Order: sequence, then structure tokens, then C-alpha cells
Amino acid sequence: MESSSLPFGKKFSPTTKKYREFHRKSITDTEGFWDREARRLEWFRPWDKVLEWEPPFARWFVGGLLNASYLCVDRHVKTWRRSKVALYWEDEAGNARTWSYSQLYAEVNRFASVLRKLNVRKGDRVAMYMPLIPELPITMLATARIGAIHTVVFSGFSAQALADRINSTQAKVLVTADGGFRRGKLIPLKEKADVAIERTPSVESAVVVNRANIDIDMKDGRDFWYHEQLKKAESYVEPLPIESNDPLYILYTSGTTGKPKGIVHSTGGYMVFNHSAYKWAFDIRDESVYWCTADIGWVTGHSSIVYAPLSHAATLVLYEGTPDYPNPDRWWEIIDKYGVTIFYTSPTAIRMLMRYGEEWPKKHSLSSLETLGTVGEPINPEAWSWYYKNIGKERCPIVDTWWQTETGGFMISPAPGIELVPLKPGSATLPLPGIDAEVVDEKGKPVLSGVKGHLVIKKPWPGMLMTLYQDPKRYKEAYWSRFPGVFYTGDYAIRDTDGYLWLLGRADEVLKVAGHRIGTMELESAAVSYPAVSEAAAIGKPHEVKGESIVVFAILRKGHEPTDKLKKELREHVRKVIGPVATPQEIYFVNSLPKTRSGKIMRRVLKSVLMGKSIGDLSTLEDEASVKEVKKAYEELKKLVKAGS
Ligand code: PRX
Repeated sequence: MESSSLPFGKKFSPTTKKYREFHRKSITDTEGFWDREARRLEWFRPWDKVLEWEPPFARWFVGGLLNASYLCVDRHVKTWRRSKVALYWEDEAGNARTWSYSQLYAEVNRFASVLRKLNVRKGDRVAMYMPLIPELPITMLATARIGAIHTVVFSGFSAQALADRINSTQAKVLVTADGGFRRGKLIPLKEKADVAIERTPSVESAVVVNRANIDIDMKDGRDFWYHEQLKKAESYVEPLPIESNDPLYILYTSGTTGKPKGIVHSTGGYMVFNHSAYKWAFDIRDESVYWCTADIGWVTGHSSIVYAPLSHAATLVLYEGTPDYPNPDRWWEIIDKYGVTIFYTSPTAIRMLMRYGEEWPKKHSLSSLETLGTVGEPINPEAWSWYYKNIGKERCPIVDTWWQTETGGFMISPAPGIELVPLKPGSATLPLPGIDAEVVDEKGKPVLSGVKGHLVIKKPWPGMLMTLYQDPKRYKEAYWSRFPGVFYTGDYAIRDTDGYLWLLGRADEVLKVAGHRIGTMELESAAVSYPAVSEAAAIGKPHEVKGESIVVFAILRKGHEPTDKLKKELREHVRKVIGPVATPQEIYFVNSLPKTRSGKIMRRVLKSVLMGKSIGDLSTLEDEASVKEVKKAYEELKKLVKAGS
């Protein structure tokens, strides 16, 4: 793309020189750099030391005291921003609510008082299982206000997944809603929460938001209505000064084992990093209207709906609904209605909307838009160009932000808040300030430009996870042992001759289905928990819209016949165990699976079968497996896949 001018003062820089110089300085004196960035926030007590680095454990802004809820609400109500819109919320049916910063402040305080009355103290865990309603960020901020730790569980997850996460954190209180809506359908959240609570002895009380106005069971002494408790609550709760390294939240994400990882984020480092990275990437200003379409149950929602935007007193749009319901222009309608200036979504959503055709966005002006963003998975140049042309009308830069639950905030992204470098469709461009990224080979040596390798981060950064909840050993192993001394992201990347990074997807056994992160091992354990299945292998198959779709190969126990009915039941079972995001698209019943001698399933062979590719050179596998057996399994699978059985 040519370097060109954009409205609203954003111009592509022809040289990238200013940006590169800024970045170079930031990683030369990293601590000095973050020390200056941290001063953008309001602290109750300054830090004694910027960084204590005992690899691989980092403590940022040691001794500093702050409060995330204070930064997101109190700080703003002391200024003219008290009357500024904090949230525009809307649902599928068009019901809408608006919250000013003072209203948000008032409710956060009241709910903090509710939590206190429920005996929640500093360091206690509060779990949330809620639809995309304002009460969710309010609950998160109220939890942070009293120094408790929140753990939000995506409302699309099953009762069992919720129970597992609650049991892992030993949460005292669960905040949920009677129900939520998706494509006009009611999702009975409280019913699912009740199933979970039966399995989670740590939960003393549940607070329920009346979202759907439906009849639900309320257990006396355990369950409380949110609105009734608010009425009885105090109107002010002092924000507790929190040491920078006290955790703000735990968020579970998939890794390469069957057990999700509890990512622990700090308060100080996390807030500093997100506040700065958000400004760089989105150049947020007082007049911006910002809409991130993610669910708050994922890290994107935590950092890019709640903490970073609210710390900037941004005006947010929250929409509880899917992109194409009731019509494929629902999102474009919302952009015009609220005058959205910054729109941040996923490549899957773009590809899906692209399929409906350009006539849908053409019905709307979309003239308020200034900046577009994407996150969660690699964006293919075709989707990038469609987005750029049909939504941004060739005048809005696309900020492709690469990051992870673990990184806490944006790591690689264009930074129009500093200097907008020329964009290349499909590349997240350059590392953000303070981020020292490298692409290395299997041995950890930097690769030449144009060569695919592993993306690693060479220096700690304030947004990085502190550890895995109650599992520092796994933290070390998962992120710091593959390449000693550097953070292993699990992603493949290429750096081109301009230094631009192209993210190429996961190098490990983690899938990205419609941007949702799902571990193959989690899928496999869900599949084998079905009584008829003795062994299973899950792999990702490229999917035109979702990026990847789930394919399961399963071996049946003796006495079970591979029928369509069984296939359907297995699909339902996996869906029930994990949640609808984990629904397998294809299932194959097989007699054997290609394995290494140590019993590891050879996904590469399964992938070749699915993709209709040849088995490839097996000579390198000789140490690992019996070539003959693998070939046999391959031929068998090929026949099955061909027959579509
Ligand atoms: O593979 C990368 C992909 O999403 C993974 C992280 O997933 P999660 O922890 O769920 O967080 C997603 C939202 C921050 C990464 O390891 N990913 C994320 N953003 C991008 C991406 N892949 C390519 N381009 C991106 N912009």
C-alpha cells in the first residue's frame, strides 16, 4: 500500500524513522522507559524499584500502591468526565442503556460494599459467569476495589468448565445472571451456575443479576439478587491501596495439557502496560467512541474493554450479540448509531461478514470511523483488504494487534498514537515500545529475515503474567524452558526485510477456532470421557471463516459400532463438557492412530491425511515410530476421510 494521508491528523509516516528511534530507546533503557510510563497513572504511593527480575519471575514497580478501580472510575469523577458517557450498552433486540462515569462510579462502589458484606476480603477470589452486560465490568471493578481477585469464566463455557475454574481458584462468591441471550435464544446461565455450585464447595454465596426476567431457583441464604443487594449497600467504599504485585485477576486459558492454565496478572505492571499500549495502538482521545466486539470472558475483554479503555476514561460501546443477528448489518448499524470512531474485532468476524457481501455495510455511512483493529488470529490479506475498503473506506488504518492472555496487553502492533508506520495487509508490523521481540530457530538462534521461526520475547515487560496460579513450576516449563532465558510465545513468525513481523499461528498443540483458544488435549480428554471412546486425537483443520475447525479422530471401545448416531452423541458430549466453542466439526472413528514409540500422537500425519497431502518423508521419524505402522494408519485414515465416514 502507498503511504498516504488519513483524516483526523493520522498520517502514515513515509519512513518509520521516528517510531523505530522511539522503540530503540525504549528497549535500550527499558527500566527507565517503564519508570516514565508508570507516572501516567495515579499512585497512592510511588514504587521503590521499577523491576525486580529473578528469572523467570518479575516484580514490577515494587512497593508502589495503587488501585485499578480507582484508576478506572474515581480518577475520572474528579473531573468534567463525571458526566462523560462511560458505556453505551445494547442488546440484540435493541434495548439500550447508557452509563456516565458517575453512574459507573456509584455502582462500582455499591457493589464493592455488597461484596464486603458477603465477607469478601483482600486476596479472596470472586468468580463471574455473566453475559456481556454492564454489571460484568462493574463486578470486576468492585472486586478490584477491595483488593479481591476476579476470575471471569466465559459464559459460553459449560457448567463443568465453570466448576473446574471455581475449584481451582477456590472462589468464595460467584456472580452470575438469570440468563443471557444469543441469536434470540435464551441461555439459562443460573441453571448452569447451579449445576456448577453443586460441585464447588468453596462458593458461599451467589449474586444474580436479573438480566432475562425469567423464573429461576434462588437458594435461601446462598443466592442473592444483585439489584436487591445494591439497594441495601453503602454508597462509598474506599479503594484499597494495593501493592503493585498483588494479583488483579486470574484468567484461565488453554495450553498444551488437558488442564487449563490459570494466568495470574498483577495490578501495577498490568495497569501501566495496558494504559500505555492502548494509547499507542488506538491513540484514544476524549472524543473517541470505542467498540471492541470481544467477550469480556477473554483477555481481550479484560484488557481492551475494561482496564485499558476505562483507565483512559474512554466512551465504550458494549453489544450483547453476534455480528449477523438479526441481520448481517447489525454491527454497521451500531457503528452509525453511536458514532463509533475506533472499531476492534476479530478476523473471523470480518471473514464472516465479508461472506454476506458488501451490500450490507453499504447501507450505512460508517463515516465516524477513524481506526480499525483486529486481534486473536492471523488476518489473511484478503480479509484485511475487504475490511480496509468496505468498512474503513480506505481512510482508516488497520491496527493488527498481536498479543496473548499471557502478555496481558498488545505486544506487536502499529502504533498510530506514536507514529503510524505504513501498513502491510497481514502483518502486525513492529513490536511496541518496551517489547524486545525476536524470531529464532529450533535452537534459539535468531533466524534471517524471511525465515519462519519461533517468536520469543527477550526482556520482561510490565504486562507479563506473574505466574500460573499455584503452579510456578508449570509457568517455568511452559514459557521459559523451551528457549532458556527468553519468553516462549508458542507462535510462529517471520520477520521481513523491513523488520515487520508476520504472525503465522501456533507452533504448539493449541487451536484457534473463531479466535477462541482451545487446547487439543482438552478436547481429547473431553472425547475420551465419553464412555464409548477409548482414545482420541483432536487436530485443527484450516477453515475459511473460523481460521481453524476441530476434527476428532476417535477409537471406539470394544462392543461399540461406529454409527452416525454415536458420532452425533460424541459431538454433543464434547460440546457439553467444554462448551459450544469446542464443538467438533468432523469426527472420524478409526481403528488406530499414528503414534511415536513413546505413545505421542503424530498430528502431522493426521493433518496430512485431512489436507489430502501425501504422508511426506518419514525417514526423519524412524527414531520416533515404526514407519510401517504409521503408513498403515495413514492409509486407513485416508480411506475413511475420503469416504467421509
Ligand atoms: O496465536 C496467537 C493468536 O492468539 C494467541 C493468543 O490467544 P489468546 O491468549 O486467546 O489471546 C487472544 C487475544 C489477545 C496467540 O498466541 N493471536 C492473537 N492476536 C493475533 C494472533 N495471531 C496473529 N495475529 C494477531 N494479531
